[in-house]
Amino acid sequence: MRLLVTGGCGFIGSNLLKYLAKNRPDFQLVTLDKLTYAGNLENLKDLEGNPRHVFIKGDIGNRELVEHVLRTHQIDSILHLAAESHVDRSILGPEAFITTNVLGTNVLLEAARTVGISRFVMVSTDEVYGSLGPTGFFTETTPLAPSSPYSASKTASDLIALAYHHTFKMDVVVTRCSNNYGPYQFPEKLIPLMVVNALHDKQLPVYGAGTNVRDWLHVDDHCSGILLALEKGKQGEVYNFGGGAERQNIQLVKTILSLLKKPESLIKFVTDRPGHDLRYAIDPSKAKRELGWSPTYVFEDALAKTVQWYVENRQWWERVTSGAYRQYFDTQYKARLQS
Ligand code: NAD
Ligand code: DAU
Repeated sequence: MRLLVTGGCGFIGSNLLKYLAKNRPDFQLVTLDKLTYAGNLENLKDLEGNPRHVFIKGDIGNRELVEHVLRTHQIDSILHLAAESHVDRSILGPEAFITTNVLGTNVLLEAARTVGISRFVMVSTDEVYGSLGPTGFFTETTPLAPSSPYSASKTASDLIALAYHHTFKMDVVVTRCSNNYGPYQFPEKLIPLMVVNALHDKQLPVYGAGTNVRDWLHVDDHCSGILLALEKGKQGEVYNFGGGAERQNIQLVKTILSLLKKPESLIKFVTDRPGHDLRYAIDPSKAKRELGWSPTYVFEDALAKTVQWYVENRQWWERVTSGAYRQYFDTQYKARLQS
């Protein structure tokens, strides 16, 4: 199998490539990544010198390049993860989200259709379903009701991918996963951001009352789901993945502080995220039934290991948060704490 992984230098993509290298040593892996602020080649250092992996720096929106990559590497299938992924950034500036997530995905699909590939796995998100109230779960038939520019752009790309199946008979499988955690997550997302701030004894900005709920899944469990979707998914189908680990943000932040032996006085409640989805919770029974998937990590244990990873890999997060990112981070951080 010759696989193209887009966004392979980001959080999930880099964990996925390592997961594939370990579990499918016969696969030839090609990474296409633009190396935005969220993409770091350092995340793939474990694959350095691996003859079965090739890295190509480039934009999924570059049609000529994408076709060239598909042809020269004789790609069989695509795992499409490249995206602008952070909700807060999409609220500050939606344009990049439309450019990459919507238009870029369409370029990739069109190139794949022209060249002809066996399977296109569209890595979408549970955010396409919008927000739940205090009860219930997202199933694959829950109506789509995205709230933020990020989730709207992912919904568009998710539906465009499915349209390529329905209209052009392209072999497309869509995955919709809940919040991931694990190593190499960019420290703008809740868990690494709180760890990094706490290690600096800086205040931890918790939006609103901190009562929003996310359903946490270890990144390796997401990777196993993506691989199963590639190998066993039915074309034209959607599969939800979730960890069954619902936690209120405030509860999670307090657990992180206790793991780091830092005081809860570091918590600062700040103005809520505009349009903040209250609760995500996944019903993964279709993936369990049809793909034989199930999550293997226990949240509290894996969270403790994840926090420890950030403690031990300070150099990694200090490097990835330097330069241009630093300015964005400092401005946002100050604005948030003053709100
Ligand atoms: P990330 O922001 O950590 O990584 C995104 C990667 O895509 C980066 O390496 C970046 O350089 C690359 N990229 C961005 N624009 C590109 C472009 N135009 N061309 C090529 N490469 C480009 O994101 P992540 O958290 O690893 O998420 C990966 C995918 O999984 C996204 O599609 C996201 O929507 C989806 N997802 C994420 C989560 C989560 O909890 N993080 C949950 C469900 C689904
Ligand atoms: O559900 C899947 C989605 O999960 C993915 O599609 C997205 O790519 C990924 O970023 C993530 O989106 P969230 O918005 O849920 O993740 P984030 O880490 O930004 O926020 C998690 C929760 O924590 C959310 O309720 C907002 C809150 N939060 C976040 C930050 C960054 C805070 O209270 N304070 C913060 O500083």
